[in-house]
Amino acid sequence: MNVMKLQAKSGSTKVIFSDFERFLSTIRGRAKVLLVTDENVLWIYGDKMNDLDMIVIEAGESAKTLRSVERIYEYLLEYSVDRSSMIVGVGGGAVSDVTGFAASTFMRGIPFGFAPTTLLAQVDASIGGKNGVNFRGFKNMIGTVRQPEFCLIDFSFLKTLPSDQLMSGMAEVIKCGVILNNKLFEYLEENHSPILSLDDQSLAYAVSETISAKISVVGKDETDNGERMKLNFGHTVGHAIEKVSGLPHGHSIAIGMVAESRLAARKGFLPIAEVLRIEELLKAIGLPTRSGTSSTDVLEAISKDKKSSGDSINIALPEKIGNGIIYKIKKQELKYAVQEVCK
Ligand SMILES: NC(=O)c1ccc[n+]([C@@H]2O[C@H](COP(=O)([O-])OP(=O)(O)OC[C@H]3O[C@@H](n4cnc5c(N)ncnc54)[C@H](O)[C@@H]3O)[C@@H](O)[C@H]2O)c1
Ligand SMILES: [Zn+2]
Repeated sequence: MNVMKLQAKSGSTKVIFSDFERFLSTIRGRAKVLLVTDENVLWIYGDKMNDLDMIVIEAGESAKTLRSVERIYEYLLEYSVDRSSMIVGVGGGAVSDVTGFAASTFMRGIPFGFAPTTLLAQVDASIGGKNGVNFRGFKNMIGTVRQPEFCLIDFSFLKTLPSDQLMSGMAEVIKCGVILNNKLFEYLEENHSPILSLDDQSLAYAVSETISAKISVVGKDETDNGERMKLNFGHTVGHAIEKVSGLPHGHSIAIGMVAESRLAARKGFLPIAEVLRIEELLKAIGLPTRSGTSSTDVLEAISKDKKSSGDSINIALPEKIGNGIIYKIKKQELKYAVQEVCK
């Protein structure tokens, strides 16, 4: 069993690479274990966990509401869950976000862990302690930063994942390569095919390098004031594209990474040859590099983003593949970058 540790101010997480059922048998002995999962995950994996108490939420982004959190609180009250209990979110990022937020706030915090079942949740959403829900149309507006006790990574969950979900998760893996880890980027250039075919060894390398990069960043900056902002590479433009186009998160972030890499090249940080390598890798994975969305709409969505008020914005830009910097730019400067990837 391979274990990595994330040590942050608010707590620590053990990232455990193991088999889900074997792992469940090790936590069954605890006072009370409650699983939170979604309808799809229950449908596919219910037989692995049906002897445990469980609360089932809707599948997907629509579950990220205060109402879902309230339902979990009601259940926790009804079943007299307390600080000696353990809540485990089994599902994608929507499940981990809702579960982590409910567990972090109930009785000012009860122990929780995750068994992420999508690639995006394994490499990103379940790691780092940020959890929350959407509010009045604003994404992740209400939330907490508190580390889960564990994240159980079992690659066999990915076998049932639709291919667009797998690609969406790969966008976050590529992001880590571009902004933090040149070796990972080169590995992805060479090995994207076996990874997409879920070859255990290639997947293990890509996922563990991505998690390890995120662990090191969050260990230095848990609350997103400095180093952690690097993980937002591709997301300033990407989130706006996601909002306007409705494309999946990773697909939007892929286009965002192209726009922001082009901005880095325009500013003279990143050679254009490296921008083209990033675009080639995204295409090889099957991710889009351009969007049919109107650049005016995307720019408007960026300017309306509640998290980036004012004329300037801090943005993570690659100065070379594997090395990102945080740079303050005028929002206006995003115009050309957005126009290069949108209509
Ligand atoms: N907290 C963070 O730091 C952080 C970071 C990145 C993303 N997120 C959040 O994560 C969410 C996106 O995560 P996601 O892409 O995992 O979405 P998701 O949880 O909505 O899952 C996507 C779909 O896949 C299904 N699914 C889950 N596991 C499956 C499996 N093994 N096989 C088949 N289907 C499966 C789900 O039921 C759902 O329909 C967003 O809400 C985003 O805001 C949070
Ligand atoms: Zn993301």
